[in-house]
Amino acid sequence: MSILAVSDIAVRYGRLTAVRGASFSMQEGEILFITGPNGAGKSSLMRAIAGVTPPAAGRIDFTGQETTGRAPEDIARLGFSMVPEGRDVFGSLTIEENLLVGTGMHARERGWRTRAASELEAVYDTFPILKERRNGQAGLLSGGQQQMLVIARALMTNPRLIAIDEPSLGLAPNITDQVYERLIDLQTQRRLTLLIVEQSSTRAVMVGGRMILMRGGEIVLDGDARTLGNSEAMQAAYFGYEDH
Ligand SMILES: Nc1ncnc2c1ncn2[C@@H]1O[C@H](COP(=O)(O)OP(=O)(O)OP(=O)(O)O)[C@@H](O)[C@H]1O
Ligand SMILES: [Mg+2]
Repeated sequence: MSILAVSDIAVRYGRLTAVRGASFSMQEGEILFITGPNGAGKSSLMRAIAGVTPPAAGRIDFTGQETTGRAPEDIARLGFSMVPEGRDVFGSLTIEENLLVGTGMHARERGWRTRAASELEAVYDTFPILKERRNGQAGLLSGGQQQMLVIARALMTNPRLIAIDEPSLGLAPNITDQVYERLIDLQTQRRLTLLIVEQSSTRAVMVGGRMILMRGGEIVLDGDARTLGNSEAMQAAYFGYEDH
């Protein structure tokens, strides 16, 4: 059974259709990159799956349950965690406070503090720099450290799938390498399913896994990242060359 199944999704903003007829599914533990140029509809598709922008048409199933049109908190509770575009840290709070904010929805549950402590331990294992700086102000972290913080925050709810919108944006390639190393560790160690939006296919080709290419709101290619990334079909679809 697939962990995520997206069928024939449309996303509209008023009269603008940002995504149309998008279908794909993911197996647990899989890495899927959604690539494509500016305005292709990548973020819109990811937000629709997370419940942030409800789809205008189609159906979404996550962990075997239909989640179409459900509230983001409900979808999160099933184990879906999203890191939206832009690194949204609470600059004046400490790193640890930022991490605890992510567990807010469990605050009323019994045993919350103990569970938060073990989740903190787990994310500090993955991101030792955050442990070192845990009492420091989050706003003073570098871009790459802030990216790690928002990923760590998304992990605090112990998700089954983490969806990240452009983790490499504005980061130097070697810092992006570090962020991806951590993500791959999580995927292999926790069998975490990774859904990652990146404009270019470069990362997908480096990391491997599966890749979808979006253009003009539609999924135009879907296949093995390394095979597709180096194909002429990919070049043509990405740059919009057409045969005449
Ligand atoms: N909240 C919104 N209201 C109106 N239009 C929107 C909204 N969000 C996105 N759009 C439009 O929907 C289309 C798809 O945008 P989207 O942000 O999904 O693209 P993207 O592939 O993520 O692009 P980028 O690589 O630049 O982040 C664009 O034409 C965009 O202007
Ligand atoms: Mg986007």
